[in-house]
Amino acid sequence: MEKKIAVLAGDGIGPEVMKEALRILDKIAIKFGHKFQFKSALIGGAAYDKYGEHFPQETKDICKNCDAILFGSVGGPVDKLTESKWANCERNALLGIRKEFNFHANFRPARIYKSLSNICPLKKEIIEKGIDLLVVRELIGGIYFGLHEMKEIEGKRTAKDVMEYNEDQIRIIAHDGFQAAQKRRKKLTSIDKANVLDCSKLWRQIVDEVAKEYPEIEYCHMLVDNCAMQLIKDPSQFDVILTENTFGDILSDEAAVLPGSLGLMPSASLNKDGFGLFEPSGGSAQDIAGKGIANPIAQILSAAMMLKYGFGMIQESEDIENAVQKTLEDGFRTGDIYEEGMKKVGTSEMGDEIEKRI
Ligand code: IPM
Ligand code: MG
Repeated sequence: MEKKIAVLAGDGIGPEVMKEALRILDKIAIKFGHKFQFKSALIGGAAYDKYGEHFPQETKDICKNCDAILFGSVGGPVDKLTESKWANCERNALLGIRKEFNFHANFRPARIYKSLSNICPLKKEIIEKGIDLLVVRELIGGIYFGLHEMKEIEGKRTAKDVMEYNEDQIRIIAHDGFQAAQKRRKKLTSIDKANVLDCSKLWRQIVDEVAKEYPEIEYCHMLVDNCAMQLIKDPSQFDVILTENTFGDILSDEAAVLPGSLGLMPSASLNKDGFGLFEPSGGSAQDIAGKGIANPIAQILSAAMMLKYGFGMIQESEDIENAVQKTLEDGFRTGDIYEEGMKKVGTSEMGDEIEKRI
């Protein structure tokens, strides 16, 4: 197969971890006889330097002409977030690209690798039951894209952010959630705040309607505050977690600490035509950027998700996942996941080791 991939490495550790993901893709291309063409484009602070914008038209055009987007990370150092280069960088770049391509569905898997169970912050008896879940988050609705307003009312500075969902927006992501569950352990937990919010009451109604089309899926509703608690108390109960934008933002970060490092966490965002953006769940980690110590696994697994979700290349994707797993089993660790007695490696050595195992 021949595929064009827009490569948006972005800021911070983005370029260095992206380099490792691209060489893994090159290796896969050779092994399976594919041709991957990489088209680089600027995003985030890197784009601001050249265009004065975080998500410029030229980048949009390159993405439009590709079959998928492989994304690194965006955002500036914490002490520089008020500079115009970095102010609203993540919001402009990330929300901009989500809206531009209607990426309504966001998939964030979280699983514990056996060889890394020591770095999971939970107790042994909780981990032993197994943790392997997928957060399916609605990505272009809710408060994020509702009316935002700050003004003075009766002499008081007042702000509002409106949460709004229509049934079509809920229905489409509910189908995505149930279909993801079909391919996994056939269990879905739909998260809302239906004891308070009308958006959540509608969410429940629509999820109940959609569920009728998937009788083989065991599903239930759970309130978001309870879900936050259950993720720590008993995460093995979850297979697919289906939820709206803001709750998904928060719960997916909570789920991301279970494997032990954000450096392990890939994600996929898809639109209804199956066009997708694939990126690590973590940010630009400016504090360790340029030092060659960042963990490239999240970026490499995001490339694997691109192959699976974006191009339907299941075997190729699993080849990468297996190579990552073997590398970890063989004891190679970047600093974020290091433990006594393991072999500590940098970004490019980790890339080497994974590449060797493909
Ligand atoms: C994420 C991030 C973004 C979000 C921010 C950076 C706008 O936290 O992808 O989860 O809130 O969606
Ligand atoms: Mg987030």
